[in-house]
Amino acid sequence: MKKILITGASGFLGWHLCQLAKQEWEVYGTYSANFIALPGIKILPVNLTDFQDLKRLFNDIDPNAVIHTAAQSQPNYCQSHPQESQTINVTASCNIAGLCADYAIPCAFTSTDLVFDGLNAPYKETDSVSPVNIYGEQKVMAETGMLELYPMTAVCRMPLMFGMETPTAKSFMQPFIQTLKEGKELKLFTDEFRTPASGITAAKGILLALEKINGYIHLGGKERISRYDFGKLLVEVFQLPETGLKSCQQQDVKMAAPRPADVSLDSTKAFALGYKPLPIKSELEKILKI
Ligand SMILES: NC(=O)c1ccc[n+]([C@@H]2O[C@H](COP(=O)([O-])OP(=O)(O)OC[C@H]3O[C@@H](n4cnc5c(N)ncnc54)[C@H](OP(=O)(O)O)[C@@H]3O)[C@@H](O)[C@H]2O)c1
Repeated sequence: MKKILITGASGFLGWHLCQLAKQEWEVYGTYSANFIALPGIKILPVNLTDFQDLKRLFNDIDPNAVIHTAAQSQPNYCQSHPQESQTINVTASCNIAGLCADYAIPCAFTSTDLVFDGLNAPYKETDSVSPVNIYGEQKVMAETGMLELYPMTAVCRMPLMFGMETPTAKSFMQPFIQTLKEGKELKLFTDEFRTPASGITAAKGILLALEKINGYIHLGGKERISRYDFGKLLVEVFQLPETGLKSCQQQDVKMAAPRPADVSLDSTKAFALGYKPLPIKSELEKILKI
């Protein structure tokens, strides 16, 4: 079996990717602060911001492909810790692309829909980027830097992702479910739109892109939905008490990082390659049954 290195195996998406990739690859997954045991996967600790550590990792594994998901993925944290987050989100990503170029192996990188300003959705791969927060700016720098160093990189722009909780990571829906179960108020935006995809579906898309794409690809879901309507679907599928679910608008909540209104992705290119997100309700029903 060929060897694949997946950075961020202890993260939400990395965990889903490892589960899927192990069917076809010998998988090496990394963690940093949160140790994780994954049956059938070799798990390694690494600080990706340490170039010597990173080089050693490549040298020890001698991978045939790399998927780089590790990141500081919280926009509010990046906004208040710009230099610290730059080292993992930009510098480490570029170093990984450089090493993939040296090894001449496929490389996929998980960027974000937040490279766009949210004023002209849906966004295609050819649309110009216009991030409104530091996290989005860092992802743009990583995209550009990686493609300069290694034009073969598949830059996967990921949408908002949801799915079951992993041993060491949650998606945004777990706190929503918890709040509603506790009968507390959950205020969700009616004016913030995304094209969400489940972690499992997104992982399938990345594996597809790894083999078939050099350059940009959007891996959004098929439906554009507001946070509030997503909350309504959660209530319906998970049979949650809906009394706490309230609507609000972006301007009602002050956060460190500015939030774009509508970064829905046009993922026609990925759909043509065989990327097949299901309707959100069907994806949620599948997650409920796991
Ligand atoms: N979740 C979303 O909805 C979403 C949407 C668009 C794009 N994305 C992008 O998709 C990717 C995966 O997101 P996610 O939600 O799965 O992220 P996540 O759950 O926050 O996981 C982040 C991963 O990065 C690792 N990491 C962080 N700093 C590190 C360092 N210095 N050295 C080594 N590893 C480090 C973490 O390891 P430890 O936990 O062990 O420290 C963890 O495994 C990210 O690139 C993110 O920007 C996510």
